[in-house]
Amino acid sequence: MPELASREHLRAIVPVVRAALAEAGVELGDLDAIAVTSGPGLAGALLVGITYAKALAFAQGLPLIAVNHLEGHIHAVLLQEREFPPVPKTEGPFGKLKAGTGAPAGVVGGGGAEETALALVVSGGHTHLYLAQPLNGTWKYSLIGRTLDDAAGEAYDKVAKLLGLGYPGGPWIDALTRFGNNKAVPFTFAQIKTKAHLGGKAPRTKGAKTAPIAELDPHFLFSFSGIKTAVLRYVQLHGLREEAAARVPRMMALGRPPKNREEALDLCPQVTLDLIASFQHAVVGDLLRKTFAAAEAVDAERILVTGGVAANRELRERFTAEAARRGFRVAFPTLALSTDNAAMIAAAAWPRYVTGEFARSELTAEPGMVLGRD
Ligand code: KG4
Ligand code: ZN
Repeated sequence: MPELASREHLRAIVPVVRAALAEAGVELGDLDAIAVTSGPGLAGALLVGITYAKALAFAQGLPLIAVNHLEGHIHAVLLQEREFPPVPKTEGPFGKLKAGTGAPAGVVGGGGAEETALALVVSGGHTHLYLAQPLNGTWKYSLIGRTLDDAAGEAYDKVAKLLGLGYPGGPWIDALTRFGNNKAVPFTFAQIKTKAHLGGKAPRTKGAKTAPIAELDPHFLFSFSGIKTAVLRYVQLHGLREEAAARVPRMMALGRPPKNREEALDLCPQVTLDLIASFQHAVVGDLLRKTFAAAEAVDAERILVTGGVAANRELRERFTAEAARRGFRVAFPTLALSTDNAAMIAAAAWPRYVTGEFARSELTAEPGMVLGRD
């Protein structure tokens, strides 16, 4: 509900900024610059942030820096690496890479934050693959792949809703997956075949509506609307609709995802748990296959996985194992930095601050802003 979202932004922005400054133990006078998200996103919410940031920057005499939300997600991982440098790699590119050693955020292997990376941004609004390359102190991005319809997080949220689970759906499905058989329902993803199939139409997603697709390799295109329909069909076929509807009040009473098998089975029958596990296994498998294929195709030195869905346990485990198997390095943000946050916007702004790339006073919201078009 865009109207409600902007009103909530307006209500929250002053107390949130005050609380953040207080928690960090700094005052407005201590700041060097103000960074703000200029897109993509909901116009009303973006405008609240931009207007407030402009006013603060003007009043404090500080430079203003505009940041793309997706670039922020990529910098969440880079920030993490700067704070907790990965353990230096001691083996060759195909040598043993120990998962997790001394790297709290799941950075596997060594390497610096200044290397070319393939970034998978996977959230409620996006499922995009970018090649991120350091260039003259800042970063350059090229779009490699993207979803044609729903984002992976959107599929999680829709399936969770269909099954009477909480919102956002990701954490619920993540928690319940452990108790189901992920081979019970054989979901498949058809290969997206030809460019002609796309019909030249711009795909619809919440964020970057106009991102180019015609030149993209179809092997790196995603589509998550089919699996959502397949889950719906399974639910209808197995008469799980009423069962799902009956779960809503019990799920709301619990107020959080189940913690153990007993709670899970109390909330969902085994057939639903199996469906949930199979859904997640298929989605993570598709993300994994295409991301690693793209990393190989563009000869990336490492893979960054970021955005809300990057908080997923199975995704982290399987990406880590596949990276070790194929000799890639992979990094994730901490769980807190995986979902939307402001620290990632500050982190993305930092290289622009250093190189003096400031926003002009005419800066305005760009709801359909894309990353890496040039
Ligand atoms: O990055 P984010 O906080 O906001 C957007 O920019 O969209 O991502 C939110 C999305 C939601 O769709 C949510 O269901 C999903 O991330 N999500 C997860 C998990 N935690 C959040 N998906 C799978 N597993 C999780 N653990
Ligand atoms: Zn996001």
